[in-house]
Amino acid sequence: MEKYQPKDTKRAGKLSIKGFSHQILVELASEGIADSVEFRRLARKFIREIKNANCDILLWNDVILGEKKTAKILQKICGSQLKCVFMTEICTNKVFVKNFEEKFPGKNFLALEIREKLIQMLEKKFSEQENIQVLNGDAGKNWTNIIKPCQEQGAIIENVFINFPDPWFKVKHHKRRFVSEGFLQSASEIFDEKTTFYFQTDQKELFDDTLEIVQNSVFNKITFFENSQWGITTDWEEAKMRENAPIFRMKFSK
Ligand SMILES: C[S@@+](CC[C@H](N)C(=O)[O-])C[C@H]1O[C@@H](n2cnc3c(N)ncnc32)[C@H](O)[C@@H]1O
Repeated sequence: MEKYQPKDTKRAGKLSIKGFSHQILVELASEGIADSVEFRRLARKFIREIKNANCDILLWNDVILGEKKTAKILQKICGSQLKCVFMTEICTNKVFVKNFEEKFPGKNFLALEIREKLIQMLEKKFSEQENIQVLNGDAGKNWTNIIKPCQEQGAIIENVFINFPDPWFKVKHHKRRFVSEGFLQSASEIFDEKTTFYFQTDQKELFDDTLEIVQNSVFNKITFFENSQWGITTDWEEAKMRENAPIFRMKFSK
């Protein structure tokens, strides 16, 4: 193995790995405001701390921060002293869908994803499996067009997993959240009591708001659960479990 060679030998210490919480940056980026002054200000503050800790390489384990525009902003703030590596694979449905398929052979799976890089990764992974289809695009806008033709051909949608959706914290962005009154209204026209929705998140505020909307819908048969269903976890879930973050879970049906 090649010996560790820091760029600046004066700063050199023993090779070590440090962890920094960067939740606020993830939240701002997921709001779509990574090019704002506020994001840059907080990123500079966060990165200064990392520079002071004499780090050489920064591993960002989040798909949103790895988006082209955001990644470019972060690398620019880091300058040449810190090399950024974006581990965007951390957050795909790859392992989740694969594990389900292995546990429930013969079932059909639809994986919906909006980010181009992740779609390519999922498509590649499942290219030879006819029972796993990866659908490219905004799930919120397209899902009825996708589900209806399947139902017309006799498919019964048994389970819908909404795993760690983007939280959209700002009130003016709540309409972008996946589970909304509008979504549940359209869902009520398409799904009967045979369909169960699984909703999981590490964001309490999102969970509470979603619960309220679900309670006021026809999908008000709600059960809270504590651990991953069938022991199958998602990438994001595993990352949050490693951080000891709480995870909020419910399933609901008509
Ligand atoms: C926090 S990650 C969770 C990923 C995965 N479900 C997991 O639990 O590991 C949120 C994912 O939702 C995707 N996403 C966000 N909005 C979407 C939309 N409107 N349609 C489809 N996918 C979307 C993001 O690209 C991202 O991969």
